[in-house]
Formats: sequence, C-alpha cells, structure tokens
Amino acid sequence: MGFLRTLAETFELIVLSFFYSIEALFRLVVPQRRKSVANETVLITGAGSGIGRLLSLEFARLKVTLVLWDINEQGNEETAQMAREQGSPHVHVYHCDCSRREEVARVASLVKKEVGDVTMLVNNAGIVIGKNFIDTSEAEMQKVMDVNVMAHFWTYKAFLPAMIARNHGHLVSIASAAGFLTMNGVADYCSSKFAAVGFAECVALEMIAMKKDGVKTTIVCPSFINTGMFDGCKPQSQMIPMLDPKYVVKKIINAVLRNQPIIMIPRSIYFLVYLRSWMPHKVSFLLAHYTRLFDVMKTFVGRKNN
Ligand SMILES: NC(=O)c1ccc[n+]([C@@H]2O[C@H](COP(=O)([O-])OP(=O)(O)OC[C@H]3O[C@@H](n4cnc5c(N)ncnc54)[C@H](O)[C@@H]3O)[C@@H](O)[C@H]2O)c1
Repeated sequence: MGFLRTLAETFELIVLSFFYSIEALFRLVVPQRRKSVANETVLITGAGSGIGRLLSLEFARLKVTLVLWDINEQGNEETAQMAREQGSPHVHVYHCDCSRREEVARVASLVKKEVGDVTMLVNNAGIVIGKNFIDTSEAEMQKVMDVNVMAHFWTYKAFLPAMIARNHGHLVSIASAAGFLTMNGVADYCSSKFAAVGFAECVALEMIAMKKDGVKTTIVCPSFINTGMFDGCKPQSQMIPMLDPKYVVKKIINAVLRNQPIIMIPRSIYFLVYLRSWMPHKVSFLLAHYTRLFDVMKTFVGRKNN
C-alpha cells in the first residue's frame, strides 16, 4: 500500500513538474492578467521618499485607499499630496517608526480603527549604513536589522491575521539583490536583506501550507537604484547596474498585479544568483574583481539623514 502510494505520488510529481515548467515558459510569452486593486487598502512603509513615494503614486493611479507610514513627516505629507493629485480617493498619513515594535502595534490599531483592515502590505522602509563591519557601531547594526527586517515581523503580526481570516491579501517585501548576493561594506545591510527574503519566503510557504491561497506574496530584489540611498556608489558592471527608480517601480507594480512571487531586477540578477549556486569560490572572487565589485562601496556617501 505504502509502495503504491509512493509510486502514485512520484508519478504525480513528475507529471505536475513537467506541466508547471511548461506553464512557466508559457507565462514568459503570455503573462498572467493584471488583477484589479481598486478596492484594496494598501499600506506602504517608508512612503516619504524614493521607491516608497513612487509606489504610492502608482497605487494612487490604481485608485486604492492608501495608508502611508514614514518617520519623515514632511516627505510623507508631500507624497500624500502628490497621491491625491494622482486621483487616489483616500490617502491616510501616519508617523510610524516601523523599527519599534510597540509603535507598530499602536499605529496599526489606529489604522484599523480609522481606515479598516489593510489588504496589501508593502514593507519598503529601509536604511543602509555603508561601512565595513569592523567600523559599524552596535547601535547602527541594530538599527539596520530593526528597520530592514524586524519591522516586517511587526507589520505582519499586525495585519496578516485579518488577511488570513478573509483569505484575501497581498504581502510585498521590498528586499534587495543583496538578499541573495553579498558584497563587502554592507555586512549588516546584506544580513538584513537575506533575513527579509528568508522571512517572506517562509510566510509565503505557511500561506500555502494553510491553504490560504488568497493571500499572495511578492518578494522584490533589485540591484542599486538611483534614489539617493546608495549615493556615491558607482557600480561598474551592467550585471549589477544603478537603476532608474521609475523603471524599478513599474516592474514592481507589474509583478504585484500579476501575483508574481519573486522579481529580481534586472534579469541579470537571476543569472548571478544561479552562477553563485555552483561556481567555485575562487572564480566568484575573480568575477567580483573583474566587475570592480570590491570597490563599489569605497565611494559610498548615502543619505545624510539616516
Ligand atoms: N536604493 C537602492 O539602491 C536600493 C536597492 C535595492 C533595494 N532597496 C530597498 O528599497 C527600499 C526603499 O529604498 P529607497 O532607495 O527608496 O530609500 P530611501 O532612503 O529613498 O527611502 C526610504 C524611506 O524609508 C523611511 N524610513 C527609514 N527608516 C524608517 C523607519 N524606521 N520607519 C519608517 N520609515 C523609515 C525613510 O524616511 C525614507 O522615506 C529599501 O528597503 C531599500 O533597502 C534600495
């Protein structure tokens, strides 16, 4: 009986793997239809500048109810004003330091009371220190982990239960290519992004295991983006380029509306992650030298107000 079951399951595995591989190839040519998000309530952390602001404006055009969180009150208000001009019917602005557990819980309760349940959660807020590990203070490292990954724990705790209860929602994690590929000068940042990717993947698996297939997940892993966060860096390789923020945001929105589980931007990141999985270490160091990767953080200036 056990043998027959194993045989049946193995047969199913082979047939379905083949089917899903063909489906994935087909989807490269004919992408999944974009879903409507007009009735969704979208919360974006770090909405006061960069990717968070541009995402807010794109979602505003899609007529969602927007909830904008940031510690930068002026930037957040500016984003809200721009979102209203883009036609968003409801824009709600909150000051929230999402690295602080109690503050996330408090502001999340306020949001639930004043706006209602959040149905799409975009964890975007992030910081980078940009120093070698040995020169980074304990407080700086702690802050990077708190903003870039622990905040995701606290926001999921606050908003995921309602999504599970309704079997409806979308969790978007703005991680980074640094969540799969490492570089010198960003040990804390890379660690936080690896953790963010691992966390988001595990929760995605939990949704599948719980048969909550109405709760979608998207992990976003871009290369450098010209928002100011990595000011001063001059990546020399077209494989890991400095990207235009508007281009990145179009790609993110497209991936979210098509319920894509993960997106790496540009596509060369997929190739580098694949290479990394089998390439001998010495060859990868050679490649890093060849692409001047070791030098990228030498000219880092970053944002002044981190
Ligand atoms: N810029 C890049 O090169 C790049 C590349 C890959 C991934 N990313 C990721 O994209 C996301 C957005 O980055 P960006 O380039 O738009 O940066 P940004 O500095 O322009 O925006 C980050 C926003 O987060 C806010 N923020 C910081 N700490 C916060 C906190 N504790 N609570 C609430 N808000 C906080 C800031 O005030 C700011 O408005 C980040 O998670 C970043 O790691 C950026």
